[in-house]
Amino acid sequence: MHKNSRRGFMGKAFGAVAGVGAVGSLVAMKKSWDPLPSVKAAGFTTLDMTIYPEGELITEKWRGKPIFVLKKTAEMIEKQTEGQKARSIKVGDSQFMLCIGLCTHLGCIPGYNPKEEAFLCACHGGRFDWSGQVTHTPPPRGFDIPPFKIEGNKMILGEVGPEYQAMKDSGITL
Ligand code: FES
Repeated sequence: MHKNSRRGFMGKAFGAVAGVGAVGSLVAMKKSWDPLPSVKAAGFTTLDMTIYPEGELITEKWRGKPIFVLKKTAEMIEKQTEGQKARSIKVGDSQFMLCIGLCTHLGCIPGYNPKEEAFLCACHGGRFDWSGQVTHTPPPRGFDIPPFKIEGNKMILGEVGPEYQAMKDSGITL
């Protein structure tokens, strides 16, 4: 008796859900872009940092977000400003710019122009230099840097290592 009435309730509940299916599917589509909390908790990505070519922007993915990786050229290292140096990540003998590739204004994905060594966000004209510092508003700050831990020549995204903690403590990333 109890089981039957429960089944009846479930049937009604399912019917109600099916009734709003059209709206629900739109919500579901949006939700499917965001990882589940359980996936987030286990969301580590390990990058082998030896494979990146110098001066070429490569886009990786971490927890569904684009991750920009740029291995600095010798020229970039030589001419970098203190601000650019502060955002630098050293792995082995190489230096990298690595950040979440989402504009800090409203979340568009900016494009990289290697000739200008700059990122341009087409949504509202925000600009960033090659190191991820904002150079033209409306973005309120430079690109955010994901939590990372360095292990030999590898970077583990999603884990907090001392280099990331230092960047966070000094306000380089949120
Ligand atoms: Fe990039 Fe507005 S979302 S400038």
